[in-house]
Amino acid sequence: MDIGIDKIGFYTPKKYIDIVELAKARKVDPDKFTIGIGQSKQAVPLEYQDSVTMAAEAADQIISKDDNIGLVIVGTESSVDESKAVATFLVDLLDLPENIRSFEIKEACYGATAGLKMAEGFVALNPDKKALVIASDIARYGINTPGEVTQGAGAVAMLVSQDPKILKFDHEEVYMTKNVGDFWRPTFSKTAFARGKFSNQIYVEFFSELWKKYQNDFNQSVDDFDTMLFHVPYTKMGMKALKTLKDQIDPDKFDSLSKNYQSSVQMGREVGNLYTGSLYLALISYLINGDPKDNEKILLFSYGSGAVGELYSATIQPEFKNNLDSEKIKKVLKNREKISISEYENIFNESPANGYITRDTDVLDKFYLREIKESERLYKKMDH
Ligand code: CAA
Repeated sequence: MDIGIDKIGFYTPKKYIDIVELAKARKVDPDKFTIGIGQSKQAVPLEYQDSVTMAAEAADQIISKDDNIGLVIVGTESSVDESKAVATFLVDLLDLPENIRSFEIKEACYGATAGLKMAEGFVALNPDKKALVIASDIARYGINTPGEVTQGAGAVAMLVSQDPKILKFDHEEVYMTKNVGDFWRPTFSKTAFARGKFSNQIYVEFFSELWKKYQNDFNQSVDDFDTMLFHVPYTKMGMKALKTLKDQIDPDKFDSLSKNYQSSVQMGREVGNLYTGSLYLALISYLINGDPKDNEKILLFSYGSGAVGELYSATIQPEFKNNLDSEKIKKVLKNREKISISEYENIFNESPANGYITRDTDVLDKFYLREIKESERLYKKMDH
């Protein structure tokens, strides 16, 4: 049975900052941020937004009443509660049936890939059902930190089913786990701790080890792929991994892999790090901005600090354009408003606490945090 991604939706907040303005405010040469790091804009989530509201926005784009959803998994490292899963809030917000399994997965930026692999097993056992896997995160490092330029926010929702119309999983996958201190966020902290350069090094090492294992286990080489998609914490990062292949392959091959890589990071450049959604935003970006071929076999590298990595192949389905609403996705990026660095700093420093109430007139989105009462977060769907 063929199983994979049947539909895919994307959401990012309606406000952003310009990376050149950020560089100037931090007294850094803008080329460092736009070329050295490779970012142009950074999404800024508003006070009423979090991993719940963004997950709802992305999923709302792709689900319908007829989908026989039996499982909802949210991959996130920006959860709103130590106990209650983001997925459970979605049952109300998205009018999901109650006879579903729902839970949250955490392993840094690997969460959504873990969710997809579980969803694949679920559909294999329940072929008439679908699974909704959502990656939803806010990447926060802190004002004037080295990681600030790599912040971002957004969600990617994927419906996994049999006979998928967008991407079929090939069952060719290799994975590994090492206990590494490259990046972490203790429960007391709203911002991540990162050993930045060490995290770059571990990312590349994981890719190299997994690529070696993948070639060995499946008797394949770079000639079997025109496209490799990467987890994109910032657009230069995946290129660092891709460059490890440069000396081993024909220059034309490297150029074509680089060209496809650039189309896959076009959208990430505009929003920043989505953490666990970043790899899947790269997939969307490649499908919309690249030149994907029918039945093209692609390689996906998922990396979650801490660290878990997985390299797997999948095949683009010939009907993918019918199930990917590229105009809607482009609008998500286009219909945004630039804010100043000081406005961003004010928003960044706000933190809704007990007693918080959103003024409905401030809400630009469909789903929002309405209030925090007795430390319980209460959400609402706006009827625009
Ligand atoms: N013009 C052009 N390029 C310039 C430049 C200029 N004027 N000045 C500097 N650069 C280049 C540097 O040469 C460097 O390029 P290379 O990486 O190719 O060497 C690049 O800009 C960055 O410069 P630095 O290394 O000096 O930057 P930094 O010390 O400020 O930190 C960072 C960069 C480590 C990525 C930091 O932003 C960070 O800690 N980010 C968060 C952690 C992260 O994203 N890690 C990625 C791997 S882990 C992961 O993937 C999981 C995850 O999602 C977090």
